[in-house]
Amino acid sequence: MQKITVVGAGHVGATAAMRLAGREVAREVVLVDIVEGLASGKALDQWESAPVEATDTRLTGTTEYGPTEGSDIYVVTGGLARKPGMSRADLVAKNAEIITDISENIASHSPDSIVIMVTNPLDVMAYVAKEVTGFPRERVMGMAGVLDTARFRSFIAAELDVSVQDVQALVLGGHGDSMVPLVSSVTVGGIPVTELMERSRLEEIVDRTRKAGGEIVDLLGDGSAYFAPSAAVAEMCESIARDQKRVLPCAAWVQGEYGLEDLFLGVPCKLGRGGVEEIFEVDLDADEQSALDASAAEVRDTMDQVDV
Ligand code: LAC
Repeated sequence: MQKITVVGAGHVGATAAMRLAGREVAREVVLVDIVEGLASGKALDQWESAPVEATDTRLTGTTEYGPTEGSDIYVVTGGLARKPGMSRADLVAKNAEIITDISENIASHSPDSIVIMVTNPLDVMAYVAKEVTGFPRERVMGMAGVLDTARFRSFIAAELDVSVQDVQALVLGGHGDSMVPLVSSVTVGGIPVTELMERSRLEEIVDRTRKAGGEIVDLLGDGSAYFAPSAAVAEMCESIARDQKRVLPCAAWVQGEYGLEDLFLGVPCKLGRGGVEEIFEVDLDADEQSALDASAAEVRDTMDQVDV
């Protein structure tokens, strides 16, 4: 892939740029931030590590969108992050303005690009980006399911003292505390997790997964998570750039899948060079479906607060 632009040079954006360069996912990574010198400084600092890291991805920073022209992917991290006591939805009004401006720039500089939304509340910010760019649903998605699923997997692996690689799981729904970690989907080396762990312990892990973003916000005291979010971004970009067709949970614009339509919601997607190439539907039991409906209702409430 030729070029990936990361908008926002805060912790998530800068770390995502570093991971993308480290994996040589694209020939060029452009970091954009409105704060004078921030993106340029971080990009230059990272580029100076390239000879040591032995990666040839060219990293540059800018305050303008001109150098992003012709990007294949935009990873959007610009906007405000949560502070302790805030929900992701509290960010909605201010971030909707910022995302509108970024989306206009994306559409005018790279009309064929794919947008990966990271700014919270990301299901709603993905909607703003889709409306403002006018891009088809295949080319606008949100990063959350990979992160939420990684958290779920890491907690299960630690509990059972097994390799994270052998824990498979799936988290559906919006990226809020009503997300739906699917216990029925969890396997450990092919074994259903319910055979390896007490149901009550699993429920505690599900609850921790739902609140895992807030756990980091509380620990840090200032700012929110970025190592795991940026790792999730890199995995999604890599699947698109290399046309790997990984099946990863992403926020996608559902149109009847899971009985829901016209909103972004975390669902399993096939990610390839075309973006979201397919959405897979999983049979849900009644409890799971009602949890997903409740999560969708929460996303819709926040959508109603934006005017695009
Ligand atoms: C989190 C924020 C990034 O889940 O939403 O950590």
